[in-house]
Amino acid sequence: MGPKLKEIDDYLKANKEAFESQLCELLRIPSVSADSKFADDVHRAADWMADHFRQLGFATQLDETPGFPVVYAESPTISGVPTALVYGHYDVQPPDPLDEWISPPFEPTERDGNLCARGATDDKGQMFTHIKSAEAWMKTVGSMPINLKYVIEGEEEVGSENLEAYVAANREKLACDCVVISDTCQFAPGQPAITYGLRGIAYYELRLSGPKQDLHSGTFGGAVTNPANTLAHMLSALTDHEYKVQVPGFYDDVVPMTSRDRESLQALSFNDQRFFDQIGVKEAIGESGISVLERRWSRPSFDINGVWGGYQGEGEKTVLPARAGAKFSFRLVPDQQPEKITEALRAFLEERCPSGISMELIASHASPGVVVPLDSPYVKAAATAIEGGFGNSPVYIREGGSIPVVTQFAEQLGADTLLLGWGQSDDNTHSPNEKFSLADFHRGIRSSAYLWAELGKIQKD
Ligand code: BES
Ligand code: MN
Ligand code: MN
Repeated sequence: MGPKLKEIDDYLKANKEAFESQLCELLRIPSVSADSKFADDVHRAADWMADHFRQLGFATQLDETPGFPVVYAESPTISGVPTALVYGHYDVQPPDPLDEWISPPFEPTERDGNLCARGATDDKGQMFTHIKSAEAWMKTVGSMPINLKYVIEGEEEVGSENLEAYVAANREKLACDCVVISDTCQFAPGQPAITYGLRGIAYYELRLSGPKQDLHSGTFGGAVTNPANTLAHMLSALTDHEYKVQVPGFYDDVVPMTSRDRESLQALSFNDQRFFDQIGVKEAIGESGISVLERRWSRPSFDINGVWGGYQGEGEKTVLPARAGAKFSFRLVPDQQPEKITEALRAFLEERCPSGISMELIASHASPGVVVPLDSPYVKAAATAIEGGFGNSPVYIREGGSIPVVTQFAEQLGADTLLLGWGQSDDNTHSPNEKFSLADFHRGIRSSAYLWAELGKIQKD
């Protein structure tokens, strides 16, 4: 280790507690983007981020969008070295169900070496590692070994819809050689990973309405179409017993895993039983002949995300509801196209909608799946940095979640993304008791600090 990295390591050690308490400050802001009740808090989180960059001496802008602002910052420009764009998000998922949290979601609490709070790993804690690593360079060496640009947005958890226009309108400002994102997971505790593929998503809401108002189910039941019954029929028609999607053409553009993909997947030591135990289920569902990892990483899926209709209160009510609905989504893989799928889905549902029911299908956000190349000097730099920070070289994995902007960065900026996840698959993202290992937080910061050094060695002509 050179003298610079030694100095940086010392700075990181000396500032561990400070970093943790700063992260806790950010975690106390309930920046839930999905729920307008929290809109002021989402803005407060953006302001907090902008202030934080300013204190670091980085040129900072709060870029307004039709939704929540993008926090943009950059390190002082130097020539002859690569530019990395760090992307992250300061918004979080809603914390419900609240009564299942051991400590309140917006009162960060340390338990068993983990920081527990909504946003701890997704994405405040992970994103923050790339800011603290830059701070270590600035406060010790006095400059960065590369150019850094940051785009920290506040609408990732609601589909990043305004970011698309933002990236398109700011191509020059965001120009870079590679994108760095920490918003994914390690393969297992002690086994860091570089993620080279993510699934996309197409999200829908289906609303059905029947009679002009709720009816007595004794007087009318059996003679009048019930929107809740119809909803159940329509939703269950969407998949078969293997959970295979029945919409015509749905699998047409799915790129199968290559045999090389499959070999590297088999080389990973994944224990199905341990995975089931972790989430409290007895067995997996899905397509036969396809492994659990492959189903999650490179096959599309359908999930109902919420269903409503009829009486949900205490006791019983014999009602034939006038309306019912559901929110559901498909996870997509390359080369499925969201628009094509929406069209086929609409036809499929309309065909199954009886004349006594009127249906409305709302297509909300959508983004395609992505696979990023692994044969670049940037990936090599990341692998070296991770080995330095975690003491273990990374494995190469795909993941099932989605980060819509990755496709935008590739298309608009021509830049590939390094997905360097510091989280764990049992961090309870989007669930009660979200957590982030403090050891992983600090290893992430260290890896990030080394990454800037490694990227700085790449020749830039
Ligand atoms: N950090 C996740 C994405 C993720 C999760 C990647 C798990 C890899 C593994 C991100 O914050 C997220 O939750 N994305 C949403 C996107 C959606 C709202 C468009 C998702 O995947 O549901
Ligand atoms: Mn995230
Ligand atoms: Mn998320």
